[in-house]
Amino acid sequence: MAIATAFSLKLQILFIIFCCRSYFSTAFTSQDYADALEISILFFEGQRSGKLPLNQRQTWRGDSGLSDGSAYHVNLVGGYYDAGDNVKFGLPMAFTTTLLAWSVIEFGSSMQNQITNAEAAIRWSTDYLLKAATATPDTLYVQVGDPNMDHRCWERPEDMDTPRNVYKVTAQNPGSDVAAETAAALAAASIVFKESDPSYSTELLHAATKVFDFADRHRGSYSDSLSSAVCPFYCSYSGYQVRLSSVLGFLKSIIDLNLSLSIQDELLWGASWLHKASLNGTYLAYIQSNGHTMGSDDDDYSFSWDDKRPGTKILLSKEFLDKTTEEFQIYKSHSDNYICSLMPGSSSFQAQYTPGGLFYKATESNLQYVTSTTFLLLTYAKYLGSNGGVAKCGGSTVTAESLIAQAKKQVDYILGDNPAKMSYMVGFGNKYPQHVHHRGSSVPSIHAHPNRISCNDGFQYLYSSSPNPNVLVGAIVGGPDNRDHFADDRNNYQQSEPATYINAPFVGALAFFSAKN
Ligand SMILES: *[C@@H]1O[C@H](CO)[C@@H](O)[C@H](O)[C@H]1NC(C)=O
Ligand SMILES: *[C@@H]1O[C@H](CO)[C@@H](O)[C@H](O)[C@H]1NC(C)=O
Repeated sequence: MAIATAFSLKLQILFIIFCCRSYFSTAFTSQDYADALEISILFFEGQRSGKLPLNQRQTWRGDSGLSDGSAYHVNLVGGYYDAGDNVKFGLPMAFTTTLLAWSVIEFGSSMQNQITNAEAAIRWSTDYLLKAATATPDTLYVQVGDPNMDHRCWERPEDMDTPRNVYKVTAQNPGSDVAAETAAALAAASIVFKESDPSYSTELLHAATKVFDFADRHRGSYSDSLSSAVCPFYCSYSGYQVRLSSVLGFLKSIIDLNLSLSIQDELLWGASWLHKASLNGTYLAYIQSNGHTMGSDDDDYSFSWDDKRPGTKILLSKEFLDKTTEEFQIYKSHSDNYICSLMPGSSSFQAQYTPGGLFYKATESNLQYVTSTTFLLLTYAKYLGSNGGVAKCGGSTVTAESLIAQAKKQVDYILGDNPAKMSYMVGFGNKYPQHVHHRGSSVPSIHAHPNRISCNDGFQYLYSSSPNPNVLVGAIVGGPDNRDHFADDRNNYQQSEPATYINAPFVGALAFFSAKN
């Protein structure tokens, strides 16, 4: 009797261990996710341009770009450097802002004491975007800094002495892509500040309306008029990806002779955010007359600064999930098709994963696709969950819980649950990238080394084998290759460069998991 009881007790204990380990299979606690959330937002302080405030916490940084725009009689001080260089690129900055705002809109209620920091990170960008959008009528300033010259130097932003050229889109040289993304950013941020700062929120929405109108009235792609400034250099050192997509876009425009096809994704994305922020029927009508062009089989799983289609599908599905008419159901089936293609085991599965289980899309900056896709999985799970719905994948269904489990694998992989047993987020865990491809982080701080370090003198730090002297806490780098291999090499920008748009959607994902037990 005693033996049997002990035996069954042992079984029970074994069962509990087995059940709960595999059921929760958690490498990290909610506190770990909360810690990662905090530094994922802190990262943005390392990317700040302009006059830094007294409460700046990445203290190795100093003021920079204080006269940006002045030679053009416009104040363009502030905003973010996109990645490891010192250029302010408008398209990725706006996309970053939209996704930071979307993170707060969906998961801000789980951010606890980090909500203030998240709002500050958004405002650092929207203050700049407001200036860029409203300084001159029918003009949007879309970039500060000559990327050719910037990339020929390895300089701290504080020492920057390369030309701070200003680039803009106008009625004559339109850029519906960058303008509609800027409208999306301003509209999404207006939702974030609706309660905490109503007058700022109104100002953002007003500007968003005007920029969207400008984007729609003057159609064209900004890479046509600004190609030498925005195209070959955008993705930092080589910008291969941008070069490739702009070549494809160019071929497409020759073949189609119809540019509106290639800019459709931003206009619809912008309209969707304006609809959500304003509830003005004009945008709903716009979506309804243009949304059908958003096919269900055109995904290449690359929700990014360049491709807004997957995000638009998910965002619109929320508006229409509770409506049952055929016209509205189409938005859910578009989203289902996209989500199903990401889910291993589903009949329509198409995406690629590494042997270690990481979503894999591109050799360069792959983690940007991982974080954006993870955010969409969690957001769709939330939309479905609040509707009691499931995603329909061919003959089978996928539950919100499976989407969350798939998202968790991606988050945990980035944080260190991966074959290399390292975190791809700087400052998280005990093993993380030390040679981040980032000028400010790799050159000694202006506070430690006040004397100027010139354009060419900086290259010794790019090629040095020493760890970066200034830890860019919270940065997520480009990440490993399709075999889960990562080279912690500063010169390997494809893998070791951080970017604001890698972090932005991860902020929302981390908030979600920090609130789960
Ligand atoms: C370009 O495409 C849009 C939307 O598909 C269409 O309305 C327009 O007529 C097309 N323009 C040309 C010149 O083909
Ligand atoms: C809705 O938006 C359109 C386009 O911007 C604008 O002309 C109209 O005045 C707006 N309506 C309301 C009620 O705000």
